[in-house]
Amino acid sequence: MKRILIINGPNLNMLGIREPGIYGTRDYPSLLEFIRKKAATLGLETEFFQSNHEGAIVDRIQQAYGKSDGIIINPAAYTHTSVAILDALKAVGLPTVEVHLSDVDSREEFRRISYVSLYALKTIKGKGFDGYAEALEFLSELP
Ligand code: DQA
Repeated sequence: MKRILIINGPNLNMLGIREPGIYGTRDYPSLLEFIRKKAATLGLETEFFQSNHEGAIVDRIQQAYGKSDGIIINPAAYTHTSVAILDALKAVGLPTVEVHLSDVDSREEFRRISYVSLYALKTIKGKGFDGYAEALEFLSELP
């Protein structure tokens, strides 16, 4: 059974409260429940990690080396700034999908830049929770 690590970056623990017009009204525990259910239908094992700290996210990516079979990451604001997260993903070399709840391309200019995109096999934006389901499907189909 493939083991998928799902990492969510800063402020995603505030889902349901933060900017509901952009991120929706469902909260973070609902997101985890949604992902768990989808993963079960695909026969995938899930592990979750959320942090508001860049270094903690780097540490968690490093820990996945040799233990996880794939990573789904929504680096949130660190998407647009973090070379450290990009380098950590490159270091562990796991198949990675980048997910954004909102359509980052149709928002502020600074959200169009993603460092993680330079490594991710696929980037899914603007599909809300369904983006994570699509990411799970993509990883489950990899050899
Ligand atoms: C986000 C988009 C980012 O620009 C933002 O900083 C977030 C969430 C998204 O899921 O749409 O915190 O990654």
